[in-house]
Amino acid sequence: MSHAPKPNPRHFVTDEKAEDHARILANRLKARYRHLARKFRRAGIEAFRLYDRDIPEVRAVVDWYQGHLVVGEYVRLQTGPQWLPRMARAAGEALNVPADKIYMKRRRTKAEAEPRYPRASAGGKRIVVCERGLKFWVNLGGALDTGLFADHRDTRALVRQIAGGRDFLNLYAYTGAFSCAAAAGGAKSVVTVDRSAAHIQWAKDNMALNNFRGRAYEFVRADVEEYLETLRRSKRRFSLALVDPPSFSKRRGTGTFNVNSHHAQLLTNVLTVMAPGASVIFSTNHQRFDPKLGRLKAKRIVELTAQTVPEDYRNKLIHRCWRIDM
Ligand SMILES: C[S@@+](CC[C@H](N)C(=O)[O-])C[C@H]1O[C@@H](n2cnc3c(N)ncnc32)[C@H](O)[C@@H]1O
Repeated sequence: MSHAPKPNPRHFVTDEKAEDHARILANRLKARYRHLARKFRRAGIEAFRLYDRDIPEVRAVVDWYQGHLVVGEYVRLQTGPQWLPRMARAAGEALNVPADKIYMKRRRTKAEAEPRYPRASAGGKRIVVCERGLKFWVNLGGALDTGLFADHRDTRALVRQIAGGRDFLNLYAYTGAFSCAAAAGGAKSVVTVDRSAAHIQWAKDNMALNNFRGRAYEFVRADVEEYLETLRRSKRRFSLALVDPPSFSKRRGTGTFNVNSHHAQLLTNVLTVMAPGASVIFSTNHQRFDPKLGRLKAKRIVELTAQTVPEDYRNKLIHRCWRIDM
């Protein structure tokens, strides 16, 4: 006999209710697509968010990737297994996207959390999407994250704009999208650091896809804190850095990294490898981030969040972002 708690029938989303949700989502998607698609097409942007839990009852996110859709559900007990496929079908019909170009993702709540990066290349084929003249590989059918964080599109534009002639250090680089932006902006050198071999390979692929090859572009598979210590001893210095750590992560031998408790020390360590006059862009997507930047030895610290969260994101704190000038 099973001891699993029975779902409360009163809390279950009925077929009728789910039909209602599907209709609301379809209408909203059509309106958002009409509003966003043309201007993004003109700007050469092929990855953007169409629905960001706009209506609290319909707990979904829908992202557009060059004619493909990724439909996610913030999983809750109230919906059965059919809710997400139903929303995905409604989204496809609303935007004329065939079923083989629609991907479904269940975003689990904290209690049911599974690793955020199960395996970078777990299943699915990769496609290329463009963003303002740059190209990126994305994998829509693999892990929860696709390889490109569209919410950082305008942060990438900023890095591109200020990277000219600078030595750029990309920490927690993931698939190297910021490295591509810096290279496109004319960075003198780019060092891409991540501890995942799969992410470093993906970053190399993205740089190669944009024809950024050669000795100016270095890839380092390492723990960021350990690499910063190596850099500090080497006396090598940088003039621009991007620091975008995960909210939480397990570190070999030294317990867990928690951005709320550790960002001030991390940034202090980053500043020791920066040259005078350098800039550091720091970002986090911790949803309850408590910044403690007051003690950093910097000339100027400015929060950029209002500029860097793009208009297609309804959650205006999807990430928070600062520029630290030395
Ligand atoms: C939030 S993602 C960074 C997103 C990236 N900046 C972008 O916009 O595409 C976090 C990345 O940090 C890497 N990572 C986590 N802990 C790390 C550590 N201690 N040292 C190096 N990389 C780490 C993960 O492999 C992952 O690629």
